Amino acid sequence: MAPSAYPAWNRPSDPFIELISAATLADRVAELGRAITADYVAAGATEDVVVLGVLKGSVLFMADLVRHIALPVTLDFIGVASYGDATVSSGVVQITQDLTRPIAGKHVLVVEDIVDTGHTLSYLLANLATRGPASLKLCSLLHKPERSEREVPIDYLGFTIPNKFVVGYGLDVSQRYRNLPFIGYVAGA
Ligand code: IMP
Repeated sequence: MAPSAYPAWNRPSDPFIELISAATLADRVAELGRAITADYVAAGATEDVVVLGVLKGSVLFMADLVRHIALPVTLDFIGVASYGDATVSSGVVQITQDLTRPIAGKHVLVVEDIVDTGHTLSYLLANLATRGPASLKLCSLLHKPERSEREVPIDYLGFTIPNKFVVGYGLDVSQRYRNLPFIGYVAGA
């Protein structure tokens, strides 16, 4: 592609290799929403389902996903910080922003961008389980099984990806690139 033809978010100075295109993301997210709808209907979950996004990486995925969940839902968010450097999780997890409402007796669907080592979700699911939800399920857009250190049950999974540090569609490196419409990695990384 001629340099002038590069979209602004994929300049030669930021040469992303596309791993999952925007169109492929959209198709898979719609499929996940349909599967979630069918399962909760079959399980008789007629009360509001609490769709709980893990800040900040899940925000773009969650916004698209809930538009394909044909059920009454409420939205909430939880913030977690995992100590470590930009690309390596230390396994020490802290809640930086808690839910706005109790989840006791509610059907809770946690929405996450990626399960990498599994430390964050393993901690978070255990924490949420102590709050007495009627059910607790996990929907993750991505999973990097090669990096797994903790077994995390993923009820709904978008894509299994290779061991690359990916950005875009909500995922960042040092808070940048969340707005890329596709998922990719920096060339050479
Ligand atoms: P964990 O290693 O499963 O605990 O993942 C912790 C968090 O690290 C995830 O929720 C992401 O926010 C972040 N993370 C892990 N892998 C990637 C990646 O490839 N790109 C961007 N963020 C990542």
